[in-house]
Amino acid sequence: MEKIKKKKRKTFTRRDFLKGFGSGALGAAVVPKLVSQDVFSLQTKEGKIPLYSKKQITLNINEKNYSLVIEPRETLLHVLREKLNLTGTKKTCSGGECGACTVLLDGNPIYSCLTLAIRADNKKITTVEGLAADGKLHPIQQAFIEKDGYQCGFCTPGFIMSSVALLEKNKNPLTEEIKTALSGNLCRCGNYSKIYEAVSVASKSMRGA
Ligand code: FES
Ligand code: FES
Repeated sequence: MEKIKKKKRKTFTRRDFLKGFGSGALGAAVVPKLVSQDVFSLQTKEGKIPLYSKKQITLNINEKNYSLVIEPRETLLHVLREKLNLTGTKKTCSGGECGACTVLLDGNPIYSCLTLAIRADNKKITTVEGLAADGKLHPIQQAFIEKDGYQCGFCTPGFIMSSVALLEKNKNPLTEEIKTALSGNLCRCGNYSKIYEAVSVASKSMRGA
């Protein structure tokens, strides 16, 4: 038993951990050395997993590339709001309950509060800021305004992003399909019937019906 413990310590000790992960706090000069480097490796049954202290990533957000250095623990929501000042994506529960933080990752709606930014490296992200084009609102944004699809508006960006994902895949959804697609978004003002109506109106205008 003692032998096994010693062997484990040799591979990855607490001292190694503190030396690597604490170095950012001790001196800025050390950080660049660690960026994008495989600082430690953890040997698992599936193979070696690199453990980074910091990593350089590229996020393609609303068709623009952003290159930045992040810590692996940072969520996509945190990076969007706090590092890139894209505050249209809202932070509410931070726990995958409300959908206020919904963005599209390669076209699929995701909770950005539950997605690590490192997982979005080199992926295409769409936020509510990327919907309007040529000075015109997206038809879904327009329909939310026309049909009073919001009250306080805090949930609105998340609902709009889920609606964009739905209408990309289903141009003419039934009300039940709209409800299902938006079931991951909560509206604390209880404005659901107007939200569903707005999505239905948007689907008609996008089809030219
Ligand atoms: S803030 Fe992400 S689900 Fe609520
Ligand atoms: S409009 Fe207020 S939370 Fe939905």
